[in-house]
Amino acid sequence: MNRSSTDLSNKQTGSTKVLGVAGSLRKNSHSTHTLRILLRIAKEKYGSQTQILDLREITLPLYNPNLETNESVDNNSIQIASDAVKWADAFILASPDYHGSMSGTIKNFLDYFWEEFAGKTFGYVCTSHEKGLTVMDQMRTAVRQCYGWSMPYGVSINGEQDFNSKGEIINAILSKRLTMLARDLSVYGKLIRQQFQKDLEEKDSYTFAARYRE
Ligand SMILES: Cc1cc2nc3c(=O)[nH]c(=O)nc-3n(C[C@H](O)[C@H](O)[C@H](O)COP(=O)(O)O)c2cc1C
Repeated sequence: MNRSSTDLSNKQTGSTKVLGVAGSLRKNSHSTHTLRILLRIAKEKYGSQTQILDLREITLPLYNPNLETNESVDNNSIQIASDAVKWADAFILASPDYHGSMSGTIKNFLDYFWEEFAGKTFGYVCTSHEKGLTVMDQMRTAVRQCYGWSMPYGVSINGEQDFNSKGEIINAILSKRLTMLARDLSVYGKLIRQQFQKDLEEKDSYTFAARYRE
């Protein structure tokens, strides 16, 4: 397996770099709205640097393994997404529940960038009428398959019940869980990335990171 494109130059300094990936193409998406709130908490309360990759705005063509990504149709979108992925220490994937699974948009994102996930930590947000547990489990499974680390819990939202007409959260438990995820991802995202990079440099030790050494 070729993992040489894993960005090893992104040395961990300062605050955690958290990339939110918005996986709904729906206008006024509840998952994207919640993701923005979460990123704001991570930045303002826990000092993370944050970016959002809104896949409604940055359109990735359907992944085709026969095409070199940098030769395919929408080169600019792929480049923007790729730069953001390499920058990140940690990710929040926000997906609607589509038939008990993640949106095709999120799956397509994972198919493009799976080689960049080792040593990086993922948190999950899902909009669902049914708690979205299978959705988050499937995202977790895909991320594990790409050697990413996952937070052991996620945040599920019921758009109709959890927000008022102004888009404010009216569910106190949801607010607490968002704050918890923002905090945990800011802390664990940095710890795991730092340790992974340290392990990369310790040439003689037999660790998970060893396979990523050049
Ligand atoms: C194709 C499709 C499949 C869906 N499947 C489910 C489902 O299995 N379970 C569920 O609770 N909601 C399902 N929904 C509803 C969405 O999860 C729900 O509307 C969600 O709020 C959308 O998230 P968003 O506001 O971020 O776009 C489905 C919606 C669509 C369009």
